[in-house]
Order: sequence, then C-alpha cells, then structure tokens
Amino acid sequence: MQVSEKRWFVSLLAIVGIIGASLFIVSLIQTPNNSFLCSVNYSNKNDNTPTSLQLKAILHYATSSTTPQQSFSEITITLDVLKSLKRPCNFLVFGLGLDSLMWASLNPRGRTLFLEEDASWFQKVVKDAPELNAHTVKYRTHLREADALLSSYRNEPSCSPVGAMPLRGNERCKLALHNLPDEVYDTEWDLIMVDAPKGYFAEAPGRMAAIFTAAVMGRNRKGSGVTHVFLHDVDRKVEKVYAEEFLCRKNLVKGVGRLWHFEIPSKVNSTIYDTVFC
Ligand SMILES: C[S@@+](CC[C@H](N)C(=O)[O-])C[C@H]1O[C@@H](n2cnc3c(N)ncnc32)[C@H](O)[C@@H]1O
Ligand SMILES: *[C@@H]1O[C@H](CO)[C@@H](O)[C@H](O)[C@H]1NC(C)=O
Ligand SMILES: *[C@@H]1O[C@H](CO)[C@@H](O)[C@H](O)[C@H]1NC(C)=O
Repeated sequence: MQVSEKRWFVSLLAIVGIIGASLFIVSLIQTPNNSFLCSVNYSNKNDNTPTSLQLKAILHYATSSTTPQQSFSEITITLDVLKSLKRPCNFLVFGLGLDSLMWASLNPRGRTLFLEEDASWFQKVVKDAPELNAHTVKYRTHLREADALLSSYRNEPSCSPVGAMPLRGNERCKLALHNLPDEVYDTEWDLIMVDAPKGYFAEAPGRMAAIFTAAVMGRNRKGSGVTHVFLHDVDRKVEKVYAEEFLCRKNLVKGVGRLWHFEIPSKVNSTIYDTVFC
C-alpha cells in the first residue's frame, strides 16, 4: 500500500468512525421505542404476562375448598366493567374476604385497595396474602341505627350532597367515613365494591356509611367517566333502602342475584346545588 493510499484509508476509517459514533449517540438520545440499535421492547402497555399475584391466586383457588360468597354471574358483572375500561383501574373494595385475592387479580397492574373493619380477620387475611393493599377502618354506626340515621341525616348540613365534602375530617356527619387512610381520599376510584362491613346483626356496623361514602365519592369524581358502584346483599332491607336513598334508582344499570351495579355520574361541575342525592 502506498503512502497516499494509506492516508486515504485512514481518512475513510475516521469518517466511518465519526458516522458510527454519531449514530450511536443519536440512538442513545432517542426514546427506547424507536431506537434502531436497541432491541429491548419497553412498550409494555399491553403486557399480558400474568402477575405474581395472579399466579398465586390460581394456586390458591385451585387448592381451596372454600369459595367466595358472590356467585359466578354476580362476579361477572364487575369483571365485565374491569375489562370494558381497558386499563388498570382504581378499585376500592369494602371488606376482606375469600374473594380478595380474586379482586386484586382481576385488576392486574391496577390499584386495588381493601378496607376491613374486623381487626383479627384483617390480620388473618393479610398474614396469608401480604401482597394485598389493605387497611382497617373504624365505623361509627351500628345496624340498629339505620332507620334513625336515614330519617335524621337531612337535618345535618354535613350530610348533604354538597356539604359532605370533603369526606376527610367530616366528623359531623355520622354516615361519612371521615378518618380513612389518605390514600382513599387522594385516589379517584373507578370501581367501588360494597360487600362489607357486616350487616346481619344489630350491633354490626351495617353498610350505611360505606354506601353513603361511595355515593359522595362518585358525585365528586374529577376525571372523565362514571364511578361504578357495586352493592352486594340487596335482598336485605338496609342495603336496599340506603341504595335507593344515596345511589339512586336512575343510576342502577344492572342487577343480578343479590348484586346491584350503579353508575354514578360526576356532579363536580354541576351548577345546580343539589339538596337530595337522587
Ligand atoms: C359479607 S363478608 C364479605 C365476604 C366476601 N365478599 C367473600 O366473598 O368472602 C363481610 C365481612 O365479613 C367478615 N368476613 C368475611 N369472610 C369471613 C370469614 N370467612 N370469616 C370471618 N369473617 C369473615 C369480614 O369482616 C368482611 O368484611
Ligand atoms: C412491542 O410491544 C408492543 C406491545 O406489546 C407490540 O405491539 C409491538 O409490536 C412490540 N414491538 C416489537 C418490535 O416487538
Ligand atoms: C370539569 O370541568 C373541568 C374544567 O372545565 C374539566 O377539565 C373537567 O374534565 C370537568 N370534569 C368533569 C367530571 O366533568
């Protein structure tokens, strides 16, 4: 190779090197999705790989002789809504039960939060499934007070559709759950399942406050869309009457077995000052 040829070759190498280095730098600057040097697929929006919680749930239910209390067709109503939203959802569930692992698994990559009244039952469930996001709640009501609360709440301005907000710190309205963890108030819930607290004996808390709080949360939704509220045990008088008072017949979109499904429209931009919920 002659000297001039060598120089030419070295120059060519340098040019190729510069182009290569530029391409490399550009590839680093580009977002991972359209990088032509990086074959890793970072777009996992439609990630269908099962989560570890879903795998745990399969194993659990395959080896368990006890099943959740809701029936196949009742559970399907909620599952259909979770699927129709086509994204991970914010799902608030009143009560821990045999169904908790199922609800969390039906909302993969979403946020599912459980609120449980019974401290020893809470310990038992969370010990077996520490992955569940769950808190204990103290209720201020008893089932035996259901009738009295229903006939008197309209005299308390803090129980009115507008006056009940903010729920956090609303001590005056006994139907408002006022001391929940901040996460509950700071999250916009797409779905709320009311299948607790216990409401089958006089001293039990009853579902009055859970129903009222779900109704207030739905009315105050800031984002687009409705709040889906599911209420179980509507064969019982208190559940039925409180649903009709706060969740409203006109919002009832489906009923199967002992489950009612409501779609609560947001009133956050309403210029009408509602004095009643329905
Ligand atoms: C109607 S249960 C909810 C049942 C739940 N939906 C299920 O399918 O397992 C309402 C409350 O009863 C209590 N509870 C539920 N399952 C229980 C169990 N297996 N043993 C003791 N208490 C339970 C909890 O305090 C719970 O919040
Ligand atoms: C990356 O993943 C997305 C979503 O899963 C998929 O639609 C796309 O085809 C993938 N791209 C490549 C290059 O594999
Ligand atoms: C309320 O109004 C604001 C401002 O116009 C808007 O961004 C928001 O989407 C509205 N929310 C609802 C629930 O209609």
